[in-house]
Amino acid sequence: MSHSDDHAAGNRRDFLYVATATAGAVTAGAAIWPLVDQMNPSADVKALSSIEVDVADVEVGTQITVKWRGKPVFIRHRSPEDIELARSTDLGDLVDTDSRNANKPGEATDQNRAMDENGEWLVMMGVCTHLGCVPLGDGAGDFGGWFCPCHGSHYDAAGRIRKGPAPENLPVPIASKDGTIVKLG
Ligand code: FES
Repeated sequence: MSHSDDHAAGNRRDFLYVATATAGAVTAGAAIWPLVDQMNPSADVKALSSIEVDVADVEVGTQITVKWRGKPVFIRHRSPEDIELARSTDLGDLVDTDSRNANKPGEATDQNRAMDENGEWLVMMGVCTHLGCVPLGDGAGDFGGWFCPCHGSHYDAAGRIRKGPAPENLPVPIASKDGTIVKLG
């Protein structure tokens, strides 16, 4: 093999290595997107300090995820069963007894977590308090709420951490509701 052939082969090897490394980075990036995104907010994301979301089409027992300030926010329209499950939980069974609600500081009762008095709406950041993955929703996990598959954290129907390595309840951001409009920020 001449020197130039060798050089070309070297380039191909370098290219293959780079391509493989990049594919790996993309895969890993999907899992840690919230943290990466948080560190690199684009100008348009930073400008959106508050947004309004029309939740008229969010049916009972379902949720939507919206992006706000570069992070996912869960807006869940809870069923009567969700509310009953969340409200019948003994505070003594909780890992984190703080409401983690920017709108209602206090104990982590369901009343202090939900957006409205009857508990139909729950709005919270969709970022696991362990290392920042996005938990799965729609009643996932052992407590009828959300489950983070990254390291196995289970959140209940009020978004409170019940099992696994996450130390805190999913935080509730500054939010309000007027008719069918939920305002974040
Ligand atoms: S990031 Fe959710 S359990 Fe680790």
